[in-house]
This record gives sequence, structure tokens and C-alpha cells, in this order.
Amino acid sequence: MTTPATDHQAAANTDRSGGLRLDDVTLTLGDGDTAVTALDHVALTVAPGEFVAVVGPSGSGKSSLLAVAGGLQRPTSGTVHFAGTELTALSDKERTAARLRHIGFVFQQSNLLASLTVREQLLLPLHIDGRLDTTARARADELIEAVGLTHRAGSRPHQVSGGERQRAGLARALMTSPAVLLVDEPTSALDRVRSAEAVRLIAEQTHERGTATVMVTHDTAIMDAADRVYEMVDGRLS
Ligand SMILES: Nc1ncnc2c1ncn2[C@@H]1O[C@H](COP(=O)(O)OP(=O)(O)OP(=O)(O)O)[C@@H](O)[C@H]1O
Ligand SMILES: [Mg+2]
Repeated sequence: MTTPATDHQAAANTDRSGGLRLDDVTLTLGDGDTAVTALDHVALTVAPGEFVAVVGPSGSGKSSLLAVAGGLQRPTSGTVHFAGTELTALSDKERTAARLRHIGFVFQQSNLLASLTVREQLLLPLHIDGRLDTTARARADELIEAVGLTHRAGSRPHQVSGGERQRAGLARALMTSPAVLLVDEPTSALDRVRSAEAVRLIAEQTHERGTATVMVTHDTAIMDAADRVYEMVDGRLS
């Protein structure tokens, strides 16, 4: 049984020096005849400040890779380390606390909360963590401007376009300046100009704040911006 104080400590003890490391990670989903090996002995190391892109066909395991790397899904075997902590060794509560503080997720579907405005979506993680102050509010407004949503800051998800939701999801993920940034198809609903802006923002976060970034994409322009590009085929990374 862990106390909230211990959770807090586990999250606070992480640092940026470790980056992200997956060792021999296998993920089996479903069971019996329908069992799928979504990840097959995957090894991946992303240094702080490094921008890695992952490409591959639909169903090859890209989203599964991000889910395991970010602690949303426990691997069947293998380990995940991030920022000096073994994510796979934490309790569910500790993992949730660590994720909130240190991991930024941009999901394939934007996963915004229907009842909150764009600005409130950004403030929520810090509010939950008891760190909502003027600095946080200023950062929220900066990020909203960086993704071109200042005029939509007071709108709820159903009042904005798919591309605008995607940009709001990106801004939300950057709010905590996470040690690890995991981004799933961030530009699928964006035009070339918006897409280039999104990539610039992600690259800037990665290099200036020493973030270990993994991005799933089909966009060749994004691949050019990445430090390394991996291909995922049938759950294997090469
Ligand atoms: N909950 C689940 N139960 C069983 N199989 C699953 C589950 N979730 C995903 N899968 C399977 O795992 C494999 C990898 O899925 P994943 O979502 O990681 O692919 P992807 O590369 O992200 O695909 P896409 O490009 O279409 O988003 C697929 O064969 C998928 O059908
Ligand atoms: Mg996917």
C-alpha cells in the first residue's frame, strides 16, 4: 500500500537525464485464437532532446508502442525506463502520478473533455496536480497562441474543427514541459502550413527543454524534422 506522499515522491524523483528506454518489450493483446502480438521484442532508446519518428502500416503496433512507452498499458514482458525511473516497476497509482507530471501524450483522437474550453483543457493537468498559478496560466496562453487558437480559447471541443482539436491536444501535451513527449499522428487533420507549425513547436520543445520525443507519422515533412526514423512492421521496430 503506498501513500499519496510516496506517489508524489516517486514522481518528483524523476529527472530529465534518463530520456526514454524500452528494453525487450513484448505486448500481447486479446487471447486464444484472437491473440495479437502488438509489440514483438521492441528495443528503443530516446535521449533527452532527441526527436524520433516512427512510421509503419496500419495495425503494425505504433499506437501500442506509445501506450506502453507512456505507461498507459503494461507490457506483457520487458521494461520501460523514463527520466531515471522504471515505469514498469511502479504501482498503478505511482504510474498515474508519474504520467501526469512527466509524460505528454497527443493521442490519435484528440481526447479532449467535452465540457471544458480549450483553455481549461490545458489548465486541468496542473489543476489536478495543485500547481495552477500565474506562470501556468501564462504558459497556457502562450501555447494557445503558438498553435493559433487564441480566438478559440473559450470554445468547447464540439465548437471547433478537427484540426483545431488536434492543435489543442498538442498544446495540452506541452503544458507540463514533459520529460517524455509521445505524439500519435499529430498532423493528420492539418494543412501543410499548420502541420509545419505543429512540427516546429514539437521540435522546439524537444530541443530547448530536453524532451525525449517519439512521434508516429505518415507525413514526410515530419520525418525530415526528426533526428531518427524507425519503421514498425508487425510489432517489430527496425
Ligand atoms: N484491445 C485490443 N485487443 C486486441 N487487439 C488489439 C487491441 N488494440 C489493438 N489491437 C491490435 O494490435 C495491433 C496493433 O494495433 P495499433 O493500434 O498499435 O496499430 P497502429 O500501428 O497504431 O495502427 P494505425 O496506423 O491504424 O493507427 C493491431 O493488429 C490491432 O488490431
Ligand atoms: Mg495507431
